Amino acid sequence: MKILVLNGPNLNLLGTREPEIYGTVTLLDIEKEILEYSKSFSGVEIEFFQSNHEGEIVDKIQSAKELYNGIIINPAAYTHTSVAIADAIKAVNIPTVEIHLSNINAREDFRKKSITALSCIGQISGFGKNGYLAGLFCLVKYLEN
Ligand code: DQA
Repeated sequence: MKILVLNGPNLNLLGTREPEIYGTVTLLDIEKEILEYSKSFSGVEIEFFQSNHEGEIVDKIQSAKELYNGIIINPAAYTHTSVAIADAIKAVNIPTVEIHLSNINAREDFRKKSITALSCIGQISGFGKNGYLAGLFCLVKYLEN
């Protein structure tokens, strides 16, 4: 089973970016933890991709068809704006879980609406880096059934 873990804009700055909201762990730290955790499931392979550009994220999702069984995505700011990313997820029809480090429902009003979540099987928000691990668990169980 192949899973694509996609991170959107500014998540490459994790570690120094608003640490009071996003913590001090870097994206590389999170990716290492996901990789480590993925070993507890048999036959799960992970690939990572981060981009600050909406079109690149759309291209990556389009190219995931036939290659990946599932996607874990933190679309970051594009969560709240990107019909293009939401449409790409729908177009490839790959089960996708949306992750947010912070609790987007407990922040500014504009963060409470997720356009991309409309195309996802579920969303995990507010548990920091552990959200990615929970997302992987839920996605693997979903795909196994
Ligand atoms: C985020 C929440 C978004 O509102 C924000 O734009 C981000 C990160 C999160 O992981 O909490 O960049 O997706």
